[in-house]
Amino acid sequence: MLASLGAVPLMLSLSRSLRAETLPMVTVTKDPGCGCCDGWADHVRGAGFPVRVIESADVFSLKQRLGVPVDLSSCHTAEVDGYVIEGHVPAAAVKRLLAERPVGIGLAVPGMPAGSPGMDFPGVQPEAYDVFLFNTSGHEAFLRFLGTQEV
Ligand code: CU
Ligand code: CU
Repeated sequence: MLASLGAVPLMLSLSRSLRAETLPMVTVTKDPGCGCCDGWADHVRGAGFPVRVIESADVFSLKQRLGVPVDLSSCHTAEVDGYVIEGHVPAAAVKRLLAERPVGIGLAVPGMPAGSPGMDFPGVQPEAYDVFLFNTSGHEAFLRFLGTQEV
């Protein structure tokens, strides 16, 4: 009798810890007219992140406010767990960022590399591209990808 009563709080605490392991919300700000950003949001959602999409006609102001360097900028800008994610950054790189938590503002894939998540249209030949870790003083290569595969 006592043992079965004790099992209830244990199960409650287990389900709480499982919830605590879920991935943090990714908030994506994008121009309403841009579709590749939706493709990227779908990719991130498919990797298990909860995703919230904000449509804005002025994503550039947000980039400036968040400290995204102009030379690293792309279309959409996302925020996750204190970091900024600029452009078509693979979800695997975001997960690595959150696991390692390096010092920096966030990750960026400048431009729109062919084959990157959201730019992976049928028949497109993927190109290799760098994911950069950036801060106010500059940026460095963090990971390199071909499509959604790290290389
Ligand atoms: Cu794009
Ligand atoms: Cu886009």
